[in-house]
Amino acid sequence: MISEAARLLRCPHCGQGLAVHECVLGCDNGHRFDLARQGYVNLVPAPGDTAAMVSAREAFLGAGHLGFVTAALEASGVVVDAGAGPGHHLEGVLGQEDLGLALDSSPAALRRAARAHPRAAAVGCDLWGELPLRSGVADVVLSVFSPRNGVEFARILKPDGRLLVVSPAPEHLGALIEGLGLLRVDERKRGRLDKALGPVFELEDRARHERALTLSHGDALNAARMGPSAWHLEPGELEGRASVLAEPLEVTAAVELSVWRPRYSPGELARTITGL
Ligand SMILES: C[S@@+](CC[C@H](N)C(=O)[O-])C[C@H]1O[C@@H](n2cnc3c(N)ncnc32)[C@H](O)[C@@H]1O
Ligand SMILES: [Zn+2]
Repeated sequence: MISEAARLLRCPHCGQGLAVHECVLGCDNGHRFDLARQGYVNLVPAPGDTAAMVSAREAFLGAGHLGFVTAALEASGVVVDAGAGPGHHLEGVLGQEDLGLALDSSPAALRRAARAHPRAAAVGCDLWGELPLRSGVADVVLSVFSPRNGVEFARILKPDGRLLVVSPAPEHLGALIEGLGLLRVDERKRGRLDKALGPVFELEDRARHERALTLSHGDALNAARMGPSAWHLEPGELEGRASVLAEPLEVTAAVELSVWRPRYSPGELARTITGL
């Protein structure tokens, strides 16, 4: 019945119409809601990635394709990974003296992140709301391909802490996106990032990191399924398109790593924020 009822519903994030696709309800902007086995769908905002997206991400990162991204992250002390997904990057940066906190709203991601590293804990929360952390406790906040809440990231950071943001470069996985007919990275993304973080953070460094990847058809499918881009395809269509790709497929992974320093201490921030 939920398929028929879907036409009555709208996305709690963006207001677009919702439609059912296999075991997921979604909108054209990529927001996804798992259909529970028991037949209902939870439209509480910020459900996070579906179980299928998380397992595809776990497989793709587990194969080491984005290990160069993890290697570029310099983080120690108290490290908060905001939108950690399965926690691969957090796992890669933590040492025995550090303490990691994986934040995510996806139960499937939290289940994996809780086991990612002996020094990491996982906490479910909505990154768009007030974060359930005390002020000024984090040495590093990681935001890798995840939603960014500048004011809250600034509040939880120590005054000498750093926010590390990884975002995809426009040509990220270009040959794969083209080959599978997926959605492109939004070219205006960088401008939006700077605008959103600028009032509370100062840009300290920005660097590009890229790698040539050699992907099997299985890798290509995992890459497609870990994001929202395959949503508009009919069941079986993605697999059909993947089967005619070159194998192995040569693609470039390209990301931008930005290092941001808080402009204010948490106390100053609280006084300033009303004026922003
Ligand atoms: C593209 S994935 C990136 C995961 C991980 N950082 C990585 O690079 O492998 C984005 C993550 O953010 C989470 N997420 C999306 N919206 C969220 C929100 N409003 N609150 C908390 N987590 C959210 C998703 O569940 C997903 O795990
Ligand atoms: Zn939406």
